[in-house]
Amino acid sequence: MFKNLCNEEKIYKNLYNGEWVESSTNKLIEVKSPVDGQLIGKIQAVSKEEVDKAIANTKEAGKAWAKTPMYERTKILNKVAELLDARCEEIADILVAEIGKDKRSSVSEVKRTADYIRFTANLGESLEGESLSGDRFPGGSKKKLCLVERVPLGTVLAIAPFNYPVNLAASKIAPALIGGNTVLLKPPSQGAISGLYLAAVFNEAGLPKGVLNTITGKGSEIGDYVVTHPGIDFINFTGSSDVGQHITEISSKTPLMLELGGKDAAIVLEDADLENVAEDIVLGAYSYSGQRCTAVKRILATNEVADKLVPMLKEKIEALKVGNPNEDVTIVPLIDDKSADFVQGLIDDAMEKGATLVTGNKREKNLIYPTLFDNVTVDMRIAWEEPFGPVLPIIRVKDVDEAIDIANRSEYGLQSSVFTKDINKAFYIAKQLEVGVVQINNKPERGPDHFPFLGVKASGMGTQGIGYSIEAMTRHKVIVMNLDI
Ligand code: NAP
Ligand code: G3H
Repeated sequence: MFKNLCNEEKIYKNLYNGEWVESSTNKLIEVKSPVDGQLIGKIQAVSKEEVDKAIANTKEAGKAWAKTPMYERTKILNKVAELLDARCEEIADILVAEIGKDKRSSVSEVKRTADYIRFTANLGESLEGESLSGDRFPGGSKKKLCLVERVPLGTVLAIAPFNYPVNLAASKIAPALIGGNTVLLKPPSQGAISGLYLAAVFNEAGLPKGVLNTITGKGSEIGDYVVTHPGIDFINFTGSSDVGQHITEISSKTPLMLELGGKDAAIVLEDADLENVAEDIVLGAYSYSGQRCTAVKRILATNEVADKLVPMLKEKIEALKVGNPNEDVTIVPLIDDKSADFVQGLIDDAMEKGATLVTGNKREKNLIYPTLFDNVTVDMRIAWEEPFGPVLPIIRVKDVDEAIDIANRSEYGLQSSVFTKDINKAFYIAKQLEVGVVQINNKPERGPDHFPFLGVKASGMGTQGIGYSIEAMTRHKVIVMNLDI
């Protein structure tokens, strides 16, 4: 247990100026297990005044942090990575309990986060500015010497979603800190305890007081206040497209990075190795019950391909283990009943409109069994909406061009996959897809984490990925020397 992070009644506190503090509101939010409703702990619902205080404190701390030598920043981040590795089991168990992520994926989230932070620290060590000589431009001279360096933006607001409360918080915090910024973390309410453990690791690793503060509370209550706060210099948000859109509308003057929802398509061509494709798609669509922005969310294939692929998918889907995240399972209860109701609504709509149910459509409270639909048509909600649950539609197309057309008609533009052995066809399709990333012969996925990761249209704004995130959360500072030589 991290010292003072919570008390014996499992009341968790916020990190403020290096100390764990309770809110003066005396308002607590209960965090219950998505599996059995058991109380995991209680988190503080902070007031607007406490948001003000947390921001003011982090800005004050930022004056010294911006001047802290890079080797000291990297030393602290390396220590964070070391502690995360050492506390991996403990933090993974919190993830299992709080967000119902299966144990293997929870361990992987923590280890990946340690690797992410270590890589960020290493990259920080090699970050350099540049110098330009004036004589390259007509009429210029060597008397002009331009020094370009990157400086911090100030205070970064990091808002993470429930499905990766450790990794998608750290992938904002670590690059921001390396860039010399301070951070205010607003974790998801369901996932807050995991996020607070992460903050505790940064604190324990020796991050100076106030460089990272946390605020917990419902997004619907404090979200608008914090995203429009004049003390926030950059908003780094991952979550749903609706909330992302709302933030864009109300936070007009603050630069934003948004990673939002998706409806990633897998386009499968006749020459693909269908056994491998089926395996990849099942893993991509159903891991953590499809609660991943990059889950495969629709298959586009011709009759010839679909006829062969469907039985392969069916067999693999029916072999998926369903149940308790503490065991070795893929399908777990969804984060809450509301999410399960939403997914069931998509299933019911597809059933009513005549989609072919290949397997699934079984539910126990918020546990939805893995479901596959064939012959989904474009009038069905499941053809367009992001389920964030274990439901996969197959839309049959007449050819590659129709597949591209349907893929691009989506409001989303996160990733897409193209499965084919023909590199020319792969490029023909990839070039036309309106998404941030196209995967050729692989399921959609965010990593490796130093690759650029971005969504277009309703899927986001700005580019993540370790180096790209550091770049986004720093700006150029230029000093021109006018020499007398
Ligand atoms: P969400 O409901 O949008 O919540 C995300 C975060 O925003 C939470 O911390 C939430 O706090 C906070 N929030 C809510 N209202 C806010 C407001 N008005 N102002 C500021 N913050 C506010 O999303 P989610 O259900 O946690 O996550 C699932 C969604 O995220 C899916 O659509 C998924 O595709 C997307 N996602 C995208 C990526 C990507 O990289 N593209 C990665 C992961 C997830 P509370 O929890 O307190 O409400
Ligand atoms: O949920 C969205 C995450 O950014 C997806 O990451 O592809 O590593 O699961 P992942």
